[in-house]
Amino acid sequence: MKNIQLDITKAAQFLSANAISAYEPKVKAAQEALENGTCPGNDFLGWLHLPSSITPAFIAEVNETAKVLRDNCEVVVVAGIGGSYLGARTVIEALSNSFQWLLNDSKNPVILYAGNNISEDYLAEMCDYLKGKKFGVINISKSGTTTETALTFRLLKKQCEDQRGKEMAQKVIVAVTDAKKGAARTTADKEGYKSFVIPDNVGGRFSVLTPVGLLPIAVAGFDIAKLVEGAADMEKATAIDVPFTENPSAVYAACRNALYDAGKKIEIMVNYQPKLHYLNEWWKQLYGESEGKEGKGIFPAAVDFTTDLHSMGQWIQEGERTIYETVISIEQPNHKVLFPTDEENLDGLNFLAGKRVDEVNKMAELGTQLAHVDGGVPNMRLIVPELNEYYLGQIIYFFEKACGISGNLLGVNTFNQPGVEAYKKNMFALLNKPGYEKESEAIRARLNK
Ligand code: PA5
Repeated sequence: MKNIQLDITKAAQFLSANAISAYEPKVKAAQEALENGTCPGNDFLGWLHLPSSITPAFIAEVNETAKVLRDNCEVVVVAGIGGSYLGARTVIEALSNSFQWLLNDSKNPVILYAGNNISEDYLAEMCDYLKGKKFGVINISKSGTTTETALTFRLLKKQCEDQRGKEMAQKVIVAVTDAKKGAARTTADKEGYKSFVIPDNVGGRFSVLTPVGLLPIAVAGFDIAKLVEGAADMEKATAIDVPFTENPSAVYAACRNALYDAGKKIEIMVNYQPKLHYLNEWWKQLYGESEGKEGKGIFPAAVDFTTDLHSMGQWIQEGERTIYETVISIEQPNHKVLFPTDEENLDGLNFLAGKRVDEVNKMAELGTQLAHVDGGVPNMRLIVPELNEYYLGQIIYFFEKACGISGNLLGVNTFNQPGVEAYKKNMFALLNKPGYEKESEAIRARLNK
């Protein structure tokens, strides 16, 4: 089996001859600090050897629970936010038919996502859609107290019990949460839900290969053993004893940090497949929440091409030269569509007749890369042989390992997210949450000024 490959030649040409190799010893030290557990946030390194430690028995247990949900539900709602849903959504959307929700496919339940916003309209419309449907819920929250998810879960639990009865609700509600702490754990234990534990030493955005991601992915009908196999192979390919130039995560970490040193403060993740939109979202969270600290960090942005070439393309081609791109390039599509000949050729497109649509997409990709490089935008390319569970596993681990290395290079604690608390504190104060009396007073005084 081939591995995914990173091509940095069109990024390195923007750097001095030794800029990348100068990073080699720093990357080695950063990776050693990860592997030896001496870096900041070292109590959150459980993801590092997670793929190789997942047993067939564990996969079987996850699949067994997934089967209960698949057998008893037409719709399964994945309730979670941030790291508690983005990984699952990434894999499910990348592997699903683009029109899955219109297919009336009795084989697989429809997967919905909730608990990732507080929009009343969103919740009302979802609850309305669920009326009369055989639905189940996977309630995912490591802390078990996240407002968006907890609020949504309370609504879904009630509707599920009202619609399906307490006994069936108990069967089709599954919790993925902490072993002991949090309201999600308390509820799961009290109600007797099947539950899975998120290991203490795996942070939310690194948790896709725990039941946080594995359970929803299995419920959607995908092969989680293959996903884990891909990740485990990438764990080997990026191990500490792999030479720098052969370790794609090390090279990616080095290249993005060398570009950052050269004033490229924004990394744009690019795909040419709409199915990869959520890979962009997952990656943005992984890097944004891990590195954006202490006034530092590359800003992770993302676009879906060729769609966004007709919107953001102008900015990328000619805007401020503080950006670089990382393109996810899928070598082989899963379908084949040949462009037909038309005798009248009214649209003038006969020059494409007989070609695969993917060839046009690939030429758009190549043409864009050349144009953006000419426009002063360094380009990296992650070459993926095809879109399946195995390669998604590789991609996930590749980015996780590179993120761990990159955060250490930057000198931040990659695994915390202290900045996320600021909005919560204000929101709780404004909502008069018990325990926030002092903050409530202060914030009201500030607003009345
Ligand atoms: O990466 C993280 O830790 C966060 O993005 C969390 O995943 C997110 O805030 C959700 O937290 P929880 O799973 O505790 O509900």
